[in-house]
Amino acid sequence: MAGSAKVLRTKLDYVNMHPGQQDVVAEVLEGLGQTQKTLSPKFFYDERGSQLFEAITEQPEYYPTRAERMVLKNKASEIADHLGAGAMLIEPGCGSCEKVRLLLDALNPSRYVAMDISSEFLLSSANAVARDFPDLEIQAICADFSQLDALALEESSARRVAFFPGSTLGNFDPATARDFLRAVRHLVGDDGGLLIGVDRHKDTGILNAAYNDQAGVTAAFNLNALTHLNRILPANFDTDAFRHKAFYNTEARRIEMHLESLRDQSVHCAGQTIDFHAGETIHSENSYKYTDAHFSHLAQETGFSVDADWSDPQSLFSVFYCRAN
Ligand code: AVI
Repeated sequence: MAGSAKVLRTKLDYVNMHPGQQDVVAEVLEGLGQTQKTLSPKFFYDERGSQLFEAITEQPEYYPTRAERMVLKNKASEIADHLGAGAMLIEPGCGSCEKVRLLLDALNPSRYVAMDISSEFLLSSANAVARDFPDLEIQAICADFSQLDALALEESSARRVAFFPGSTLGNFDPATARDFLRAVRHLVGDDGGLLIGVDRHKDTGILNAAYNDQAGVTAAFNLNALTHLNRILPANFDTDAFRHKAFYNTEARRIEMHLESLRDQSVHCAGQTIDFHAGETIHSENSYKYTDAHFSHLAQETGFSVDADWSDPQSLFSVFYCRAN
């Protein structure tokens, strides 16, 4: 009936802080100029890369997303008891915003700040949340993780809680993880908190399978970083001349992903020539795995203390709620 129809309001602000092209070219060339060539994992996430990542999360071997989803779904009300209602919930690297949806009803935040480096993906995800939660204030900010310090957040008296699911912390080396959590701690302030998903150190076979799925989706995701560079630099990587390589480095407690050159070759990148010999790799990602003790120590070092944690029944994955000290 027209008279009783609910008026749907869309409360979505958009802020573009995407780093300039100059920064991107310099960063890529610096990484490819090192003895062990490296590329930041953020170059996985153009629109196709973000879609491929979503497809990875559906692969039978890739357990982290399913395990974390199970925890968030089953423990939403306990999590809400720890966080308290009315917080400003800030999600760096929100991707599809799929995880936060599992919590929004229970958490009832005053505002949701969605951040992602992929503008197309961010806008479509944030708009979908705005459509499904019409009373929620949403701010979508196109920025990468290194820009937390520069975020222009709405002044408000709401407690700030950062939400960092998906074990994305694992993609940071230990020094970057510390810097990132310190930046989060600064952002959320003395009464703030952090709800974070962390993948656990475990049997090497389970880990190696998760990053070498039989359907080849992780391989396509890794190789897509080269297609992305071809477009944005520009460059002329031949994706058939590289292969995906992933293995668990037990000593460093991390999965390493590499792109291995299948032959001697030269690639033109933003006006420079980069030489590869057969077998040489670009180290494209680390995915660190944590024990409880290692994560608690990291939290302490960065101004947080672990208040509560939840795991799936097989203890593959943990979600920690940390309070600012
Ligand atoms: C986003 N990140 C936590 C994923 C991971 O498991 O490290 C990225 C990924 N790389 C390969 N598969 C998934």
